[in-house]
Amino acid sequence: MKKKIKHLLLIITGLSYMISCTVNKSHEKIVIDNMLKYCVEKTKVSMASLCETDSLPRNILSNQKEWNKVCIHDWTSGFWPGVLWYAYETSGDTAILKNAEKFTELLEGVLSVPVENHDLGFMMYNSFGKGYLHTKNEDYKRNLLKAADSLATLFNPKVGTILSWPAMRDEMNWPHNTIIDNMMNLELLFWASKNGGEEKLYDIAVKHAETCMTTLIRPDYSIYHVAVFDTVDGHFINGYTHQGYSDNSTWARGQSWGIYGFTMCYRETGKPEFLSTAKNLADVFINRLPEDAIPFWDFDDPDIPNAPKDASAAAIAASGLLELSMVVKDQDLKNHYNTEAFKILAALSSNAYLSGDKNQSFLLHSTGHKPHNSEVDASIIYADYYYFEALTRAKRYLN
Ligand code: GLY
Repeated sequence: MKKKIKHLLLIITGLSYMISCTVNKSHEKIVIDNMLKYCVEKTKVSMASLCETDSLPRNILSNQKEWNKVCIHDWTSGFWPGVLWYAYETSGDTAILKNAEKFTELLEGVLSVPVENHDLGFMMYNSFGKGYLHTKNEDYKRNLLKAADSLATLFNPKVGTILSWPAMRDEMNWPHNTIIDNMMNLELLFWASKNGGEEKLYDIAVKHAETCMTTLIRPDYSIYHVAVFDTVDGHFINGYTHQGYSDNSTWARGQSWGIYGFTMCYRETGKPEFLSTAKNLADVFINRLPEDAIPFWDFDDPDIPNAPKDASAAAIAASGLLELSMVVKDQDLKNHYNTEAFKILAALSSNAYLSGDKNQSFLLHSTGHKPHNSEVDASIIYADYYYFEALTRAKRYLN
């Protein structure tokens, strides 16, 4: 297995340089196929070492080689099942399918406690949602519908958004807070409204996105991490940060969540304002990327160029930009977003970012929570998940 990964790395890193400088489709196809093989092989390596069935991989810190694991109630618990579903989709390997089912079904316990925050969408849609696409398992559908109803209970109609972090009401004195990350969880609501759930789930998702568009997004299309609202009349009080450098800085992963989230909302609703928002957010992200196409963790950290990078923000943006390139009609814009997404994928697929045999993950150099000095310059499961997803989207784009 190790030899196979080394061999793939040689091919990938050699060829990924080519896709950063050429738009030759046949080269791109070979590189994407090899990157996908790399992800499948590395998934198998992790799978072999993950024998416990009550915990899921979350991160590998810079001096470590193996996954640190978390319980099902951690916000990242859906990403490992999601990686397994992409690995199954790519390889058709039934041993991977068995693991995807096992780890997905483990998350059923998430629904046995009252909804804790907006992360329910991340947890359930990337596991049961991806699994349902492949299996049409009715139990998966039931769990997804239950999760969507549960997530919707956090919606405050006066404000027009889903409450992201209930605990922050007391901790920070934020009466009602909504973070940009929460855009990602709307996909569960859209899915449910089309698959037997109530129509109001669609309305909640749309209203949430509309409110975020006019509050979380600043006039220059950079994004606040957190919007805080009054619960009496619902007005927007102020924008803050939690994981970024400062309240007014541009936290790279927040910008990526926005690109991905508003593109997905356009796919689900056809509303042109979501598309133009996604394009504007993408332009800010692309224009502020450094030479190597991988963002620093916050675009405004004064320590740049010595600040840590965030490969996870790059992977999320690459996946979002690929979808954006598929939904825009204008051919020049299609090419533009596609080229930028491939540049990011090529950079992630270089020696500088692939973990190879350094550790069990796909990618190095992500930053989870810099202000808490947590997961800085680490491998993080959601970077791997969105990298894998971006590669599958890239393959679809090229076919
Ligand atoms: N709260 C999700 C993130 O760290 O991006």
